[in-house]
Amino acid sequence: MILRELRARGWRNLASVVLQPGPGATVLFGQNGQGKTNILEAAYTALCFRSFRTSSLSDLVAWGSQGATVEAEITVRAIDRGLKIQISQGHKVTLLDGKAVRRDSSALLGIGAVLFGPEDLRLPRAAAAERRRFLDRAVFGGYRPYFREVLTFERVLKSRNALLRRGPVDATLLASYDEKLAEAGARIVIRRRETVRSLLPRLEATFRQIHGEAAVGVRYRSDPRVEAVDSEGEVVSALRDGLRGHREADQRRGFTGFGPQTDDLELELAGHLAREHASQGQLRSLVLALKLAELEHLREVLGEAPLLLLDDVASELDEERRRSLFEAMAALSCQSLITVTERDHLPPLSGCVDYQVSGGALRRC
Ligand SMILES: Nc1ncnc2c1ncn2[C@@H]1O[C@H](COP(=O)(O)OP(=O)(O)OP(=O)(O)O)[C@@H](O)[C@H]1O
Ligand SMILES: [Mg+2]
Repeated sequence: MILRELRARGWRNLASVVLQPGPGATVLFGQNGQGKTNILEAAYTALCFRSFRTSSLSDLVAWGSQGATVEAEITVRAIDRGLKIQISQGHKVTLLDGKAVRRDSSALLGIGAVLFGPEDLRLPRAAAAERRRFLDRAVFGGYRPYFREVLTFERVLKSRNALLRRGPVDATLLASYDEKLAEAGARIVIRRRETVRSLLPRLEATFRQIHGEAAVGVRYRSDPRVEAVDSEGEVVSALRDGLRGHREADQRRGFTGFGPQTDDLELELAGHLAREHASQGQLRSLVLALKLAELEHLREVLGEAPLLLLDDVASELDEERRRSLFEAMAALSCQSLITVTERDHLPPLSGCVDYQVSGGALRRC
């Protein structure tokens, strides 16, 4: 996918900006608080349909303004398309080529972005829910129907939890929920496993490139009974059995404590859990490598890479890692938007397009 032009109006501190990125790297440089991250957020929202910083639409609209608009001219699968996100009076409208479109529409396949920002550094040490969210986004990027599959699972889970909270539970009714939950849950486990299998070799290769030799790993962790089996049918059985075994505890606690909603994505470095043993710099390289692995996975599944957004990535890497990172990126030959406070923090990038960001305005250099 190629982003040919991005236009934002009334978006946070961006009065009216037009960005025409190059086919490779585009650098957005400027001092703190000028609007660099706001531009990445506008691009991400146009391509992924939601912000990475807030779930409240009013945060995105320039203070004192009635609404905000972001438009992206893209080329995907050799077809030129236009995306438009319009926010006004607390409502968001998303248009593809002028027609309203839903997030899970197959027309959007191939449109997307992978973001690395300062908040991502928390990933290895964050709650498991954040790592599941990362993984689910990677699955969804390559397979839109996953959105519905997750919704189905969540709906059944919510109903089962409501039933558990209502008091003494009818065993037949609970068994029917267990069956539905096991079926929907198995689909999620299988898709997440497939994605992790595809991420692992790419993570190893990219981490080696950025950080040098060190064994790195990523594993999808479920209950051992679920981990012990492979096929979807077997996973359904393992989940069904597990849910049955958990009924008493679930009834006591009033929620479902077994299933993919409790699974985790474990990151390892040199044979140890990264969240417990890795240094700050190693964690940074690990998360970066994971994001680049996601990008490569999506390129493989979709036949073209999503847009890479690197927010403030250079600031905390030492010089050698920074150089290796940009070498690794050049090898990926994808389109990227990179923010940086000092232009000379980045090594020379061939064919790079530069923009200075100042007071919410853009100037091509
Ligand atoms: N809804 C809004 N309306 C107007 N201005 C806003 C809105 N939301 C945020 N801002 C302002 O946008 C400015 C730029 O924010 P942004 O995060 O893009 O800066 P940045 O260039 O990435 O800075 P840094 O280098 O510190 O990361 C901030 O000063 C912030 O106060
Ligand atoms: Mg910023």
